[in-house]
Amino acid sequence: MLFPISLVLSYLIGTVSGSYFLGKIFLNVDVREHGSKNAGTTNAMRVLGKKLGVITFIIDFLKGVLVAFISKFLFDFSDEYTLLIILACIIGHDYPFYMKFKGGKGVATTLGAFAVFDFKLTFICWIVWMLLTIFTRIVSLASIGFFLSIFVLFTFFGFYSIYSKILIGIICILGIYRHKSNILRLLSGTENKIGNRR
Ligand code: G3P
Repeated sequence: MLFPISLVLSYLIGTVSGSYFLGKIFLNVDVREHGSKNAGTTNAMRVLGKKLGVITFIIDFLKGVLVAFISKFLFDFSDEYTLLIILACIIGHDYPFYMKFKGGKGVATTLGAFAVFDFKLTFICWIVWMLLTIFTRIVSLASIGFFLSIFVLFTFFGFYSIYSKILIGIICILGIYRHKSNILRLLSGTENKIGNRR
């Protein structure tokens, strides 16, 4: 019974959207009506400003940390169960029921959850994300690179069961799928760069 309840709670924790609440509370703005219309850190930076953008990142990152920590260390769930708990949290972030299922793309939440799940491998993926962001100034491209690096590193260098690797694959596919509008803009050469206010 503990696991199904944890899954539901993890989804609910995931639905606590940093950018949405900060926008509503401090500026009476729905972040999903401006900029890229995404309820995430990058768009919060664009629409709500740097300070609220950073707090958005912290909130979304900590949701992932919290559920992964409780699953792995408090409940001592297996890797597979912990990955399902992480997936539930990311789904909550991406598809919050009270926001008509229109949430974010799960980058900060995945980063936080995976940092607890396997810090060493995730740290390398974080470096990939940082370098791509610095050199391209396109956060979505860096985020897609982040999910790809998680997939590659955990598949080929992680000592995990095939079931864990499949779950990690699903998390990465979901993360990249959530960037579909970004991919279209990248292909047409119109994607937002850091500094642009679109
Ligand atoms: O964290 C989401 C990022 O990868 C892209 O955000 O607002 O440019 O679509 P955005």
